[in-house]
Amino acid sequence: MAQKRSRELRPLSSEHHQALLVAFQLKKGLSGHSETAGAPKDLPGLLALARRFEDSIFLAHTRAEEELLGQHLSKTDMKRLQFEHAEMVRLLEAARSSRPNEMRQALTAFADLLERHIRWEERELFPGCESDMDEAALATVGHELEKRLVTRAEKTPKRA
Ligand SMILES: [Fe+2]
Repeated sequence: MAQKRSRELRPLSSEHHQALLVAFQLKKGLSGHSETAGAPKDLPGLLALARRFEDSIFLAHTRAEEELLGQHLSKTDMKRLQFEHAEMVRLLEAARSSRPNEMRQALTAFADLLERHIRWEERELFPGCESDMDEAALATVGHELEKRLVTRAEKTPKRA
């Protein structure tokens, strides 16, 4: 992700960094690699990692992309965006299987798609938005992302 991201879309890109780390950890853990970058090595642990990511980042992130960027995308791009988001939800659902093989397959496919999807967004989709959208529209998206993603991420639990 070497591209220079506009300030407005930066909240999405910083979550992409976190998502890529999760994909990396899942792949390492699933391949039985001894070095897993701090990720669990057992299937239930890897599933828990993926579900935590789904609840804390993925769902709000994908909703924000569809609702805020959707109106500025071509039909084809919007279709791909929605299809891949839905496919990842489906794979996480499939990963809740009681059969270890299915769980493993679904988590592998999820990590692969997550990586590919983010690469597409960062290399093609976002640069397109940045050049096609006028400043005002980009600013509106930026404000809303700030509210939905950044403020939420800053809400840390209070310590006694
Ligand atoms: Fe994204």
